[in-house]
Amino acid sequence: MGRVSGKVALVSGAASGLGEAMALLLAREGAKVAVADIAEEAGNSVVDRIAAAGGEAMFVRLDVTCETGWDEAIAAVIARYGKLTVLVNNAGIAPVGDIEMEFELWRKVMSVNLDGTFLGTRAGVRAMRGNAEPGSIVNISSVMAMTASPTTAAYSASKGGVRSLTKAAALYCATHKLPIRVNSIHPGMCVTPLVSGYFDAYPEALEAQIASHPIGHLGTAEDVARGVLYLASDESGFVLGSELVIDGGFLIQ
Ligand SMILES: NC(=O)c1ccc[n+]([C@@H]2O[C@H](COP(=O)([O-])OP(=O)(O)OC[C@H]3O[C@@H](n4cnc5c(N)ncnc54)[C@H](O)[C@@H]3O)[C@@H](O)[C@H]2O)c1
Repeated sequence: MGRVSGKVALVSGAASGLGEAMALLLAREGAKVAVADIAEEAGNSVVDRIAAAGGEAMFVRLDVTCETGWDEAIAAVIARYGKLTVLVNNAGIAPVGDIEMEFELWRKVMSVNLDGTFLGTRAGVRAMRGNAEPGSIVNISSVMAMTASPTTAAYSASKGGVRSLTKAAALYCATHKLPIRVNSIHPGMCVTPLVSGYFDAYPEALEAQIASHPIGHLGTAEDVARGVLYLASDESGFVLGSELVIDGGFLIQ
């Protein structure tokens, strides 16, 4: 038996990076996984890798900023697997932008990172509220929810919003006696396509990033996926509205 056997998980942004590692690990630990993303080809290749490893997965095309898209994606998962019990709101973007950034870029970041997480959390609550078994919603925030840099104006604001939204949703579920826990994860810098583009543009930033993580190296996608696995599983049954920081000590300085 795997740690999430019998569960059905949807992971947004699962075609790449952290989400891909989450989908692979949840499937390896026994969950049926919906790989949800705008990137169809890469998403389908994650599904193929899960199947090749003996797991069960489907691809769902989902733009997390689209309200009706959420209804359609979750309906497709329930039609195929009969239920939804785990939802990971992972899709996100991190363009460089300081306080003098264009309003259009600000709105794009807020739309994907914060609106997308709101729509996903709401859709997850609606899909799981009638379940007889426990459900878990995991929102991927960032250490940038608790701190900032000059170039993370929209990103920090969006991830701070995800952190607070998560607590409001967790309390809503608890006070309405819904069988759903909601928690956030706050990764430090992990090497994925999201950040490797940034390091290509600013090579000196890589050394500075490593130096800012007391553990002496950056994280991996698997480091974060293992946190998702814990929060998705019933092992975290008493964990509600918490902030799981996975950052190599970045925030304790
Ligand atoms: N990598 C890091 O160091 C790091 C650190 C802290 C937090 N995070 C957060 O982790 C999450 C994943 O980051 P990553 O590094 O794996 O990024 P990534 O760029 O490798 O992957 C992001 C995925 O999200 C998808 N996506 C983007 N917009 C979408 C949309 N509108 N609808 C559906 N899918 C969409 C992309 O197609 C891609 O597959 C993000 O929320 C990011 O902010 C990452």
